[in-house]
Order: sequence, then C-alpha cells, then structure tokens
Amino acid sequence: MTKIVLITGANKGIGFETAKQIGKNGWTLLISTRNEERGKNAVHQLQQDGITAEWLQIDLNDIASIHKAARYVEERYPKLDGLINNAGISGDMQKNPLELKSSELEQLAKVNFLGNFEMIKSFTPILSRNHGRILNVTIPATPIGSFNPLGYLASKASLNSMIKSFAMYYKKHEIPVEIFGVLPGGISTDLNQHQSGLLIRTVQEGGESIAKVMMDRHNHQGKLLMRMGLTQLARNFVFRRHD
Ligand SMILES: NC(=O)c1ccc[n+]([C@@H]2O[C@H](COP(=O)([O-])OP(=O)(O)OC[C@H]3O[C@@H](n4cnc5c(N)ncnc54)[C@H](OP(=O)(O)O)[C@@H]3O)[C@@H](O)[C@H]2O)c1
Repeated sequence: MTKIVLITGANKGIGFETAKQIGKNGWTLLISTRNEERGKNAVHQLQQDGITAEWLQIDLNDIASIHKAARYVEERYPKLDGLINNAGISGDMQKNPLELKSSELEQLAKVNFLGNFEMIKSFTPILSRNHGRILNVTIPATPIGSFNPLGYLASKASLNSMIKSFAMYYKKHEIPVEIFGVLPGGISTDLNQHQSGLLIRTVQEGGESIAKVMMDRHNHQGKLLMRMGLTQLARNFVFRRHD
C-alpha cells in the first residue's frame, strides 16, 4: 500500500528536497507550508516529476491552522504513516547573547518548540492507529566556539528534550508511535544565507539523509541521529567542492 507522509515547511530548502526524494520512492506527499502560493508552486514542481502531492496550509505560529490540518488529514488521509517536522527558523545567528531581545527568543520558541509540540500532539492520534513515525529535523544544541546562536540553540534544545519526553511516554503507555530527531549537519540553504565550506553539504544531500531515515525500517524511538553525510563530506574535501 502507498505510504503517506506530511512534511512541514516543504516549499524550499531541506523540506522540499526531502519531499522530492521521498516522492520519487512512490510515497504520497502532504506538502504543508504557511504560504499558499509557495506551497502550491512546490506541489506543482513535484507533480511535474510524477510525484503524488497535495498542499496543506500549516503555520507553526497559528495553532488553529495545525488543528484544522489535523482534522483534514484525519478525514481524508486516515492512513497517514509519517510526519516530518521540518519547518523551522534560526533567527539572527550573528547576534551575540547580549544583543538578543526576549521577543526574538519568544519567536524562536514559538515556531521551533511550541509549533512542533502542537504538531506532535495533534497528529499522534492519527499516527498511532497506523504505527506511524515522527521525524524532527534538528541540531546538536550545545554551544561551541564556532557556533553559538543562543536563540536557535535554545529553541532546538527544547525540541530535543521534547522528542525524548514524548518517546518515553509513548513507550511507557504502549502508544505505537515512534518519534526521533535527525541532525543533518550544515546544509547550504536560505536559513544560513547559503553558507559554504568543507563541512557544509548541498540541500540535495541534506534531503537525501532525511529521506533515507524516514523510509528505513529501523526503530529510532527517542534517538537523536547524526546524519552528517561523512562520505559526502570526505568527497567534498577530496574534490574541494566548496570552492
Ligand atoms: N540548513 C542547515 O544547516 C540546517 C541544519 C540542521 C537542521 N536544520 C533544520 O532544518 C529545517 C529546515 O531548514 P532549512 O535549512 O531548509 O531552512 P529554509 O530553507 O529557511 O526553510 C525553512 C522552512 O520552514 C518554513 N517555516 C518557517 N517558519 C514557519 C512557520 N511559522 N510555519 C510554517 N513553516 C515555517 C519556511 O517557510 P517560508 O518559505 O514560508 O519562510 C521554509 O519552508 C529547520 O528546522 C532547521 O532548523 C537546518
């Protein structure tokens, strides 16, 4: 039977590439975006590649849009197999902790933590009937010398804790849903102004890493999986592909 997956923020970047790669494997895609035009454009591009896709409106800042989408999926796609919580923001990563305003931290928490919380909560009942899985795209949340954007790190740290917390609860109460995080490493996208360098991979490579985990048959309950594409990074290094 055809598998069905819903991907948030799937109009560009890692989300769009992940959609493309999963779609090429015959899965049906529910492409969710906050903006209708951008979402429908993405669906059109995917359909031109022979992929089955439908657009759904979800803005992580708008809880009502999440509930509305969950009701629609419940009715129209009760066999939903997977959810990819991909949509996210980084805020201004150049600001040091003393320059940040609490309103900026609030905005990051609203999208990266609370929005995803509402997604997980709203889609768990549907996924639990299908032994479904929830993949969250995330980052290692400990500050290091070369990467210390406080707001982005803190919002993803709460996402990472939430993944583990839901996983423990599902396990304890035998709720048949698997939840985990995937850390693709640095990927060149709008989020980082298309950063380049030896440790940065292309968006196609990032999408491939996420798609592969989504479609595998392993149990990743509660795990934060590093998928930094070591082979691809080594290839970049050998061929100096970032130049
Ligand atoms: N790039 C990296 O190096 C990297 C590394 C590890 C993890 N990640 C994570 O990967 C995910 C995708 O990032 P990306 O690099 O592909 O960034 P991107 O190209 O900027 O894409 C972000 C996506 O999220 C959507 N989005 C933002 N705010 C939203 C909201 N309130 N509601 C719904 N959708 C919203 C954007 O929609 P619009 O087009 O409408 O703005 C866009 O589709 C993020 O969660 C990010 O933290 C990225």
